Amino acid sequence: MASNLRRPLLAGNWKMNLTLAQSVELAKLVAGGANSASGEVAVFVPATAITVVGEILKGTGVRLGAQNGHFEASGAYTGEISMPMIADAGCAMVLIGHSERRKLFGDTDAWINKKLGAALKAGLTPVVCVGETLEERESQKTWRVLETQVAEGLKGFAPADLAKVVIAYEPVWAIGTGKTATPAQAQEAHLFIRAQLKKIHGDGFAAGTRILYGGSVTAENVDSLMAQADVDGALVGGASLKKDFLRIMGFQKA
Ligand code: PGA
Repeated sequence: MASNLRRPLLAGNWKMNLTLAQSVELAKLVAGGANSASGEVAVFVPATAITVVGEILKGTGVRLGAQNGHFEASGAYTGEISMPMIADAGCAMVLIGHSERRKLFGDTDAWINKKLGAALKAGLTPVVCVGETLEERESQKTWRVLETQVAEGLKGFAPADLAKVVIAYEPVWAIGTGKTATPAQAQEAHLFIRAQLKKIHGDGFAAGTRILYGGSVTAENVDSLMAQADVDGALVGGASLKKDFLRIMGFQKA
């Protein structure tokens, strides 16, 4: 169970899905369940849906997020949206360095670090995603990968700057595959990440930073994952598009 410093965060990542009408429908479902949620709730929606979903979530306490943003504030970057634009559109949060961005769109640790700076400057709460591939896990590189991604991603900021930062541990082999990390595997990785946070900025920073688990979280496995001492929430893809997300929002505390 998470410490009192770390309010659970249940976040849905809608990825590149849903029309505006479907987004409205799902946002209404999430808004309707907000009162019975067991923690803070957030949805990371496609850029096209930010404004309409924002209207529906107003006053519900559900936080609105974007799935990616550029590190420059404005300029000739066709196809991109900037962190100030994301904030201006009504978002409170942004995903940074999701493994799909790293793998398919070339996001490097250096870019992620710059995106983090831009998100903080725009007043957004960043969720920095880290995680190893299956190949890295099988060749015993998990800890090295996590250490590098955390250190490089958070490099150069003072602890006060990073007070709002959330980390998401998403083993790439568990994303969209139905192969969830076991609660013990998740706890082991979260504990390791927390030790890295301690190395960077000490005990207080490590103890106060939320670390979410992501990768095939479902209504069936959410309780056992959330029961782990260092699992402070979930970042949910597939199951966040369905009614199951309501059950995930209301996970039962161990
Ligand atoms: P999944 O995706 O829940 O569909 O595995 C998680 C994510 O990519 O954030």
